[in-house]
Amino acid sequence: MPEMRQSSLVVVANRLPIDDSQAPDGACEWRRSPGGLVSALHPLLRHTPATWVGWAGGTGPAPALPDVDGVRMHTVALSPEDLRDHYEGFANATLWPLYHDAVEQPQHHRRWWEAYQRVNQRFAEATAEVAEPGGVVWVQDYHLQLVPGQLRALRPDLRIGFFLHVPFPPPELFMQLPRRAELLRGMLGADLVGFQRVQAAHNFAQLVTRVLELPATDRRIGIDDRVVRIGAFPVSIDTAEMAALADRPDVAARAHRLRQDLGDPRQVILSVDRMDYTKGIEQRLKAYSELLASGDVKVRDTVLVQVAMPSRERVGQYQILRERIEREVGRINGEFGRVGEPAIHYLTQPFDRAELAALYRVADVMAVTPLRDGMNLVAKEYVAARVDDTGALLLSEFAGTAAELSQAYLVNPHDLEGLKQGLRAALRASPADTTQRMRAMRAHLHQHDIRAWARSYLRALDEDGALVSRLTST
Ligand code: ADP
Ligand code: G6P
Repeated sequence: MPEMRQSSLVVVANRLPIDDSQAPDGACEWRRSPGGLVSALHPLLRHTPATWVGWAGGTGPAPALPDVDGVRMHTVALSPEDLRDHYEGFANATLWPLYHDAVEQPQHHRRWWEAYQRVNQRFAEATAEVAEPGGVVWVQDYHLQLVPGQLRALRPDLRIGFFLHVPFPPPELFMQLPRRAELLRGMLGADLVGFQRVQAAHNFAQLVTRVLELPATDRRIGIDDRVVRIGAFPVSIDTAEMAALADRPDVAARAHRLRQDLGDPRQVILSVDRMDYTKGIEQRLKAYSELLASGDVKVRDTVLVQVAMPSRERVGQYQILRERIEREVGRINGEFGRVGEPAIHYLTQPFDRAELAALYRVADVMAVTPLRDGMNLVAKEYVAARVDDTGALLLSEFAGTAAELSQAYLVNPHDLEGLKQGLRAALRASPADTTQRMRAMRAHLHQHDIRAWARSYLRALDEDGALVSRLTST
């Protein structure tokens, strides 16, 4: 067996930053994985001597992958049963809905829990093999909540961090989980447990006190002879990179062409989501459709571009959602569109970063209205891309981003009238108002970018600071 190369920094996430997807001709092609976790970590780790332990998106034997931008890929294989019971089951049909306010009903099956433990153990073992003695391991997200505890049992020499990218729910919801104590104990295997928001750290401390009867504050928890620190570390984006991309002449030209292709409307509204029931897509479509019906918005004047990238496509709730959204888009276009002038431009394709930046540049109003979202990086990307300080961000109060971007036009997406009012306000805002708001948001994001996030998290995890300077100086 070849000798396993070890790293002083290991990131462990269910997904690797590249994904094994099928090209239209059926051939295998590698492309950037979907979602905010990869968007946040990929630019951060680029050219850092680190290993990323994760799943490559298929079933069957683990493919041997080349390094990606200098980061070593260490693949964990999932069998078809693991995929069904761990990824689609416990992670995305139990935890995901429960952690997002149970906007869809969480499902509970004992077989899923067994798979969750088994797959977490496999990730812990793979990590134990590749982490250097005394190294730092950073475990990510809800798919792997047992890994910190399992890894500590295998490798007590490691410094272990855990970060949850999604919301951590209030006790009333978390208490529904049949295996709540094991999940909490698993997370407490870490030296530092990080959340997006202060409220989440508070929920966690309350639960640890109630379920495990451990001494806990919103900052520290005592377990065995250790102290586990907890805290809020709102994740961000590579602000400068997005701004530079949006400022490129070819991206500006692409944006100009896009606007022409859209029929040179007076105003463009854009939404970019993974197709997920937490994103509030249906509520937004309903609000838009009512504005069209009342004549507040006219098709020739205004267009809505809805990018909805299919996600978790074998999970029942996602299939139902896609059918409902596509029916509604069809209905709205049928009712309000004209030949060559659809009311909604609906796109389900993946876009490369430059195309996304061009879309952001074209959008006079960006509508980001999730029912619940850990953070929402799309909102931050839009702000970063508005290099001329124009554009209005319509933002849900229930996105983690709202705690930082308070100058956005904030709305409650559950309140249809409020949503319509918010859209109207964003569409009719004066340039002076939008510029003042955008400037403040951009200044915030330039300071609170992905490197600042990593610095604050790793400083808290890695007390001697050696890792921090290596990671964030690039
Ligand atoms: P989530 O993590 O729930 O998917 P976020 O808004 O935090 O939500 O992150 C989504 C990420 O996926 C962003 O970086 C966004 O640019 C990217 N993304 C969304 N839709 C597409 C698409 N169609 N093509 C390429 N990237 C996309
Ligand atoms: C969210 C989760 C990530 C996940 C991403 C995409 O951002 O927090 O952990 O990777 O969605 O979802 P997927 O199921 O495709 O990995």
